[in-house]
Amino acid sequence: MYLKIVYFTGTGNCLAVAKRFDAELLSVPQLIKNNCYELTDDLIGIIYPDYANSVPNIVENYLKKCKIKADYVFVIATYGCFAGGTLHKMRTILESNGNKADCYNKLLMVDNYLPLFDVKEQIAKLPQKDIETNLNRIVEEVNARTVKKENDSLTDKLLTCILGSFEHKYVKYTSKMFRVTDSCIGCGICAKVCPVKNISQTDKNKPVFAADCESCFACTHNCPQGAIQPKLQRSRERFRNPEITLNEIIEANN
Ligand SMILES: Cc1cc2nc3c(=O)[nH]c(=O)nc-3n(C[C@H](O)[C@H](O)[C@H](O)COP(=O)(O)O)c2cc1C
Ligand code: SF4
Ligand code: SF4
Repeated sequence: MYLKIVYFTGTGNCLAVAKRFDAELLSVPQLIKNNCYELTDDLIGIIYPDYANSVPNIVENYLKKCKIKADYVFVIATYGCFAGGTLHKMRTILESNGNKADCYNKLLMVDNYLPLFDVKEQIAKLPQKDIETNLNRIVEEVNARTVKKENDSLTDKLLTCILGSFEHKYVKYTSKMFRVTDSCIGCGICAKVCPVKNISQTDKNKPVFAADCESCFACTHNCPQGAIQPKLQRSRERFRNPEITLNEIIEANN
């Protein structure tokens, strides 16, 4: 049995989950770059981060064009606090292009959304989140080809509708809210981890942000100097999933 996993990540949670499977891992930015819009295998998995109770624009736009052919398809949304109707949204995206998934799961992990969450507090909450137990259960379900529908409630779906459409409209300007401090050493890592090439360097080597952001916070969390400061942030601490290296994020988003 062969398995392909399509994933998207800013800070490594989704990649860490994807690596738990014996699979060929394909990131959405790589698939777009390679113009690959047909996926065929025995099994196919889709692993993405919940953004605003919805699905990141880049993942939605990719899946709306992609044809998926497999005996069994599963979806895992990672999230940090409250997932809302993200799985229902994913189902509508898949069905809009004639695709379907057999098994839907969500996994509570560290919340990387700096405007609302403090990284230290998130790390302190790890025992309650019990990621290992929940992830092992999901892997077992997938291995057993369990069929599981999304069961998002009406309230979940309404929240997704409201928050998701707001996010879809304004997300591209997120990086305009970033300030770069003088501690920047011009290393270029922020540009390398950006999945949509929204960052360029000036003569002074400080990054310059365009208005085509996915709001993944990869640049912010992966800057070695902590030099990228969102105007609104609950935390000066930064996060990258401990199982994932900086090079893996760079590779995933190039
Ligand atoms: C722009 C943005 C919006 C987010 N919105 C939500 C949300 O609505 N609900 C939630 O529980 N987590 C939310 N999160 C947290 C992420 O879904 C979570 O940290 C995820 O595991 C990150 O995956 P990654 O490390 O692979 O990028 C959001 C994160 C970002 C960056
Ligand atoms: S990653 Fe940080 S230090 Fe490096 S260029 Fe970007 S802002 Fe500057
Ligand atoms: S500019 Fe930063 S937050 Fe925006 S898409 Fe690029 S890496 Fe992600």
